[in-house]
Amino acid sequence: MRRIFSGVQPTGNLHLGNYLGAIRNWVKLQGDYDCLYCIVDQHAITVRQDPKELRAQTREVAAAFLAAGIDAGRHIVFNQSQVPAHAQLAWVLNCVARLGWLNRMTQFKEKAGKDRENASIGLYAYPVLMAADILAYKATHVPVGEDQKQHLELARDIAQKFNNDYGVDFFPLPEPLIFGAATRVMSLRDGRKKMSKSDASDMSRINMTDDADAVALKIRKAKTDPLPLPGPEALRPDGTVDPADEERRPEAYNLIGIYAALADKTPAAVVAEFAGAEFSLFKKVLTDLAVATLGAMGAEMSRLMADPGYIDSVLRQGALRARAIAAPTMAEVEDIVGFLRP
Ligand code: TRP
Repeated sequence: MRRIFSGVQPTGNLHLGNYLGAIRNWVKLQGDYDCLYCIVDQHAITVRQDPKELRAQTREVAAAFLAAGIDAGRHIVFNQSQVPAHAQLAWVLNCVARLGWLNRMTQFKEKAGKDRENASIGLYAYPVLMAADILAYKATHVPVGEDQKQHLELARDIAQKFNNDYGVDFFPLPEPLIFGAATRVMSLRDGRKKMSKSDASDMSRINMTDDADAVALKIRKAKTDPLPLPGPEALRPDGTVDPADEERRPEAYNLIGIYAALADKTPAAVVAEFAGAEFSLFKKVLTDLAVATLGAMGAEMSRLMADPGYIDSVLRQGALRARAIAAPTMAEVEDIVGFLRP
């Protein structure tokens, strides 16, 4: 059986980068796998969160999943804290993982920054909880972005060491599913910065809740350079875009990348199609496409968020079904490690 597990933190507004880089791919996987899509609120509190905001963001992520087309009837959508096995298994795995392994995690170093002594233990142990998320369901495949590849490697190491230490063949080693091109969406104001929920300017990002007018305005105002769109001269003999040209024109290629992702084309195909066109024209076409996809989704999200009772019932159902898978796994783990369950 092929089973997917993936998670999103309920921190900050979801934007186009989250949609194109993650959620859209999750929607596509539903036909080929049994999927669990989790809102990882326990990961969120590894840094300080306002409780009211955390509740609101959890519902917002759930609404985004549903609006994007995740089928919570056929698959499982839930928030992590509602399934006790995550924290329970994380403790056992904390005792399997080695300090040396965690010390190599680059994301901890980035997030803890200079004030390392003041980082929470939870932030340090974050990747172990992530391993527990995946292994509690014996997930076989995990769609992740580039930034989570190292954490997934660690999850495999932890699974392997658990199996070795206890002489069992219990946890499968989860495989990463990395999605290709155009998953890196950059700021609309600065093509060298990632599109981010923490950017001070709301014009730098397209939020998943933005309606058609907001999407159109942000694309119209998006930064470009004085040149028209690149043409055949920007393509290499093998038909791909010349990285040197991309490097020179980050804003232009960001818009090209967004168009390509929304249209399910390669950036090179978009360059060939719009060769030498003016950006004013390209932006109009991009706006139409973006509004058609994102406008409807934003409206559906707002509709869902106006009914928190409904969202909560979806999450409750999801948690019940997740528990039914994770609890027996956890019981077996307890037997394996020698915890009495009288
Ligand atoms: N760490 C992931 C992120 O920030 C979120 C996450 C938590 C996750 N648990 C997971 C992703 C398990 C995949 C599988 O993006």
